[in-house]
Amino acid sequence: MNGGTVLPLVGRPDRIQRVATNLIEIAAVSKVYDTSQRGRHVALSEISFDVAEGQFVSILGPSGCGKSTLLYIVGGFVDATSGSVRVSGAPVTGPGPDRGPVFQEFALFPWKTVLGNVMYGPLQQGLSRTQAATRARELLGLVHLTKYESFYPKELSGGMKQRVALARTLAYQPKILLMDEPFGALDALTRKHLQNELLEIWERDRKTVMFVTHSVEEAVFLSDRIFVMTNSPGRIRKVFDVALPRPRVRAELLVDRRYQEMVVAIEKLMDEQEPELS
Ligand SMILES: Nc1ncnc2c1ncn2[C@@H]1O[C@H](COP(=O)(O)OP(=O)(O)OP(=O)(O)O)[C@@H](O)[C@H]1O
Ligand SMILES: [Mg+2]
Repeated sequence: MNGGTVLPLVGRPDRIQRVATNLIEIAAVSKVYDTSQRGRHVALSEISFDVAEGQFVSILGPSGCGKSTLLYIVGGFVDATSGSVRVSGAPVTGPGPDRGPVFQEFALFPWKTVLGNVMYGPLQQGLSRTQAATRARELLGLVHLTKYESFYPKELSGGMKQRVALARTLAYQPKILLMDEPFGALDALTRKHLQNELLEIWERDRKTVMFVTHSVEEAVFLSDRIFVMTNSPGRIRKVFDVALPRPRVRAELLVDRRYQEMVVAIEKLMDEQEPELS
């Protein structure tokens, strides 16, 4: 089954049974890095899958299996050695406003306030200052940072910075969110809050999301589909369709047998393969 199937039902009646199309088409993508230590290193080998519009897809796999590389290729930040990525039918040749990266290393502008950071994208897109501020404030409300709009990044906690980064990317309204372990560095409680907020935002806007994580629970909680990768060279090992109902409530999922069984099945699969330690 490829990604171009009818989406799972969601809460809003007007969005139920929306006909899905493949927004992202990844076809036989391979990536070979020329490295000083290891010579030619095949990071990705023949990765092919489609992501339907509005789908939330997670990528799991051992450290070094090429998850970030794949996301960077879809984002247009790194070129594939062979194969192709199409977004809305057009080949990816570089970054674009249709794909919003939420990467840990994409730091906030330290010289801008929280509001200034979030207004940046809309201003670049030609909105007036008033329009940009309205949009930015709406998003800051969504990520519960209204009270912090005049703070500077250095005055925020790690979790708050991640919230601002998410709001900043959402502010220029990309069709696709590319998220590379966005919550990886956070404490468990903040991470749960942010997962809930992300789900809330996603259930509202139904953006297409490619989400890289090391957490099986996080992937099952958030996703429609999960791709588990093999290590070195990175390939798709197994695809899991997460047929859990939405909207998802953590407390209900934790006692849901389908959730538990999927977490265990994926954990088991991943335990069978140790990460490359060299
Ligand atoms: N710019 C680069 N030059 C050379 N090799 C690279 C480069 N970027 C990544 N690699 C190699 O490609 C492989 C995949 O790296 P990548 O960062 O995509 O893995 P990952 O799955 O995101 O790992 P992690 O879970 O640790 O973030 C690794 O073996 C890494 O050493
Ligand atoms: Mg990575």
